[in-house]
Amino acid sequence: MRGKFIVLEGGDGTGKSTQLSRIQDVLLEKGIEAVTTQEPGDTSLGKKIRAILFEEIMDPEVELFLLLADRRHHIKHVIEPALARGKWVLCDRYRDSSMVYQAMARDQDAGWVYEWHIRAGIHLVEDITFLFQESMDITLQRRKARSVGTNRFDDLPLHFHRKVAESYLHLAKGNPHRYVILPKGETPECLTQRITDILMERFLGEKGSR
Ligand code: TYD
Repeated sequence: MRGKFIVLEGGDGTGKSTQLSRIQDVLLEKGIEAVTTQEPGDTSLGKKIRAILFEEIMDPEVELFLLLADRRHHIKHVIEPALARGKWVLCDRYRDSSMVYQAMARDQDAGWVYEWHIRAGIHLVEDITFLFQESMDITLQRRKARSVGTNRFDDLPLHFHRKVAESYLHLAKGNPHRYVILPKGETPECLTQRITDILMERFLGEKGSR
């Protein structure tokens, strides 16, 4: 049976990346094999694209074309093969990151971003998307504390990060069948429990422990 495509979305410093391996571990305890991956930059080609994206200043349209190249390659070489082997794929960011960062948070309609995905042959739809949220104070502290992985997106002004958070919420509320909006201020332990309970219930019909 085909695996499930599970995406974690949210602003920088909302705690998504910490959850990836935690969720993977809990799923494994339950006998479900999951692979963790991220965008941009999971593949060898993707790492090169990521470096260009983070080092060079460019228009949002050019950013999108690089992200689409990374995404198409990532789907073909990592995501689809894992799903076809029945594995669940836990992906840190996917298409909605482009909708938000390249368009909505810059006060642009995201329609063109969606269109370019179709033109690039990217049709894979998420089975479920978790929206991570955290207060602006906490995300700012976390971004400042990052010594590695700092990128020029992290350094964008606070009002941009505020727009990112608002745009995600808007997107999530408009797609309630696919999105789960996570609460702010929960411990990592509680979040892992909440997420894995939801996954078990949604995909295996098992009631969680909450
Ligand atoms: P990363 O260091 O992976 O941070 P995070 O842990 O917050 O995901 O940086 C990814 C950055 O790239 C992040 O600031 C968002 C940005 N990004 C886009 O602008 N568009 C996209 O489509 C994706 C996938 C990421």
